[in-house]
Amino acid sequence: MIGVFDSGSGGLTVLRELVARLPDRPFTYLGDHANAPYGERSSEDVYRLTVASVERLFAEDCRLVLLACNTASAVALRRLQQHWLPGAAPDRRVLGVLVPMVEAITRVPWQVHAPPSGNPTPPATVGGFATRRTVDTGAYPYEIGRRAPSVQVVQQACPALVGEIEAGADDAAIQTLIDGYAARLLARAPDGRLDSVVLGCTHYPLVADAFARALPVGLPILQQPRIVADSLAAYLARHPEFDDRARSGAAVRLLTTRPGASVDSVASRFFGRTVSLTAVA
Ligand code: DGL
Repeated sequence: MIGVFDSGSGGLTVLRELVARLPDRPFTYLGDHANAPYGERSSEDVYRLTVASVERLFAEDCRLVLLACNTASAVALRRLQQHWLPGAAPDRRVLGVLVPMVEAITRVPWQVHAPPSGNPTPPATVGGFATRRTVDTGAYPYEIGRRAPSVQVVQQACPALVGEIEAGADDAAIQTLIDGYAARLLARAPDGRLDSVVLGCTHYPLVADAFARALPVGLPILQQPRIVADSLAAYLARHPEFDDRARSGAAVRLLTTRPGASVDSVASRFFGRTVSLTAVA
């Protein structure tokens, strides 16, 4: 089983792409709806909750877990990999959604921690929209900057957006909110110019059209779910030890820490079809 974790329903935008890209793999999804959203929580809280959820997915027989949550990836992944996993489950792996984005932007493999000779990444300014906690960690600018100093990252926190998307706010309200965030980001970009944009939160693909309307025409918006799915497919090809197809076959299990009709209704919107989430043990 490949575990896919998110604070709530947002990670289903990633799972949807994973299932399309890897249709013969078994996936178990866990949304920590009881504690969502993570984006306004302290780093310590996000770390503690992320570890607890990974433990639950390990107990569900997942040997490989993807943190399909930018906030958890930015806050918790490195610490979890360095300080918790080697003692708790040395034969298991935890990946995140930040690494594939950094690799896609810099075109430098994650394992390379310094600019390769000749600095192959062309100069660029990348805009990033994310939760407040993700922005505050500085993880995106730090990880991009150490591999590609020619790339400048300008970030904008969108604190109200996750709540509005979950609440099913109407298009006009979402557009007004995003117009405001986009204007603030562009005001801080050198000469008001950006070369590309990252939607660094799992909820934002649902309102990608509104971001496109708020930004200069033709500005490339990196598709996180697709980039993450390609990256996971490449990881599995390099690590056949995590190939569980023979044991489990294709399957998608959806678990939550807070089952109920309201969670199912939001989850169905994110996953693109009607689903019902089961309580995790
Ligand atoms: N899944 C989170 C992320 O990608 C957004 C939702 C939350 O704040 O919990 O950052």
